[in-house]
Amino acid sequence: MTSSIRIIQTEDGSQSLYNESLNETYHSTHGALTESQYVFIKQGLDLLVERGDKKISIFEVGFGTGLNALLVQKYAHEHTDLDISFTTLEPFPLSSKLISELRYETLIDGVVQSDFEKLHNCSWRVEHQVLENFIFTKYNSTLEEFDTNEKVNLVFYDAFAPSKQAEMWEKALLSKVCALLSDGGVFVTYCARGQLKRDLNSLGLMVETLPGPPGKKEMVRAVKSST
Ligand SMILES: C[S@@+](CC[C@H](N)C(=O)[O-])C[C@H]1O[C@@H](n2cnc3c(N)ncnc32)[C@H](O)[C@@H]1O
Repeated sequence: MTSSIRIIQTEDGSQSLYNESLNETYHSTHGALTESQYVFIKQGLDLLVERGDKKISIFEVGFGTGLNALLVQKYAHEHTDLDISFTTLEPFPLSSKLISELRYETLIDGVVQSDFEKLHNCSWRVEHQVLENFIFTKYNSTLEEFDTNEKVNLVFYDAFAPSKQAEMWEKALLSKVCALLSDGGVFVTYCARGQLKRDLNSLGLMVETLPGPPGKKEMVRAVKSST
């Protein structure tokens, strides 16, 4: 999979990746950084912070370029009253060459390239205390194989689109991810298709359709109801 991946430039000036065998990009071509910042930080992390959560555990499906993780690290650096742990899965890690050519630090204030490379180069399956208030853990695993007893209060569901990797959007996998959410936990994704909303609803989540990032009409946020 790695050999058929190349860097592309998106419309906000930030880079993303294009996977030739899937004919799929890792982010919106209208702006990778804009999409990550809007879907996952603004509509996800900000919601928890605004409602007063101080201890935030995030589970991401699809580490990919590491852009979401880097944005969360920056967020933790800027919000020292929060304790954030970030756990992410990636079965197809990027080559060192691609990692060194991805330059998000030029667009994100307060972030340096070594922060970014550390996220990629650190060991798998180990908790890394990256900042006093930011713990990062990554697993070289598919969601299908991954197993944990830990609960989280925020899920970044950043799999490839249903048209490219349909199995990632089947109800059985969504159910597995939603089971990781604690009561009141929040699921966010850039995808807004009807079947996803119906499935999340039938899994007991309150589904909201929100305006999407540039180039996308809608996105989905869903909250696990307290029982
Ligand atoms: C849309 S991209 C992720 C974008 C990423 N969050 C970023 O900021 O670059 C989807 C990612 O899911 C990974 N992936 C593919 N199959 C997977 C699976 N079965 N379980 C978990 N992740 C998977 C891909 O390798 C890819 O990195």
